[in-house]
Amino acid sequence: MKVFSDIVSLREELSSLKNMNYKIGLVPTMGYLHEGHISLIRTSKGENDITVLSIYVNPTQFALDEDLDNYPTDLENDKKVAKEAGADIIFIPCNEIMYSNNHLTYVTVDNLTNNLCGKSRPTHFNGVTTIVTKLFNIVQPDKAYFGQKDAQQAIIIKKMVNDLNIPIKIIECPIVREKDGLAMSSRNAYLNKNERNKATILYKSLQYAKSLIIKGERNAHKITSNIANMITKESGVNIDYINVVDVNTLEDISILKGNILIAIAVKLGDTRLIDNIRLEVQ
Ligand code: PAJ
Repeated sequence: MKVFSDIVSLREELSSLKNMNYKIGLVPTMGYLHEGHISLIRTSKGENDITVLSIYVNPTQFALDEDLDNYPTDLENDKKVAKEAGADIIFIPCNEIMYSNNHLTYVTVDNLTNNLCGKSRPTHFNGVTTIVTKLFNIVQPDKAYFGQKDAQQAIIIKKMVNDLNIPIKIIECPIVREKDGLAMSSRNAYLNKNERNKATILYKSLQYAKSLIIKGERNAHKITSNIANMITKESGVNIDYINVVDVNTLEDISILKGNILIAIAVKLGDTRLIDNIRLEVQ
């Protein structure tokens, strides 16, 4: 496994691999790798000749009052984990490499960024689409891998690639969960024991919502209020949003039909957690 921190030498390496017709898969991450990231690396490994993992805590996707300065990092362990998972190349740039002092260009996806996380983090997705475009241009992979854990992010990136004719296939990978259902996340490291126990309420409430839908419930408000009731029973869990949206538009729906996403964001102490389930409703 080779590690690169600058764009010129990474591109040199990649161009000789591309000359040999190797298929390249890219897995963009912010590091502090866990099984969710590992599943993306393994999927890429199965579908490509070379898997490039990027690790970069992108400052433009964090608002000033968010956790950029505390975001967990452990590069030595990440390198070990990435190697074991089968990554061939890791790209670990620093801020000076990724953003010049005079960086003026941003990529914006309209509408899909207005609801859910985009509502409470209004600058977040501009940062994500900008850095992902930069990584796409630097690596120029055949395929890129994103987790459904960040459902809105994956949907926005698919739209961006389509709208801007970027010749990269976006592969969405399922959410990897802890044994008790909590979706894996680098931010879970912030949780103390008490908070960690409470965090299971997210997936439990989504499972309960699913059971109501299986029994025939089609009223979105009833679904969201049932989830809210379950979550508010846990003290110290503050709801940011609970929405039932159409998977294509990410707009709220009132009657469940077709491909829907039930998405939740909460604050547990200082830690922001998100989770979701996707369902096809007749
Ligand atoms: P990060 O939070 O490190 O996540 C990197 C990738 O791993 C994302 O595609 C995310 O959806 C996926 N992922 C995280 N937890 C997962 C889980 N439990 N199961 C499956 N996939 C999971 O998302 C980002 O970084 C950044 O916004 C990034 C795209 C790298 C741009 O900076």
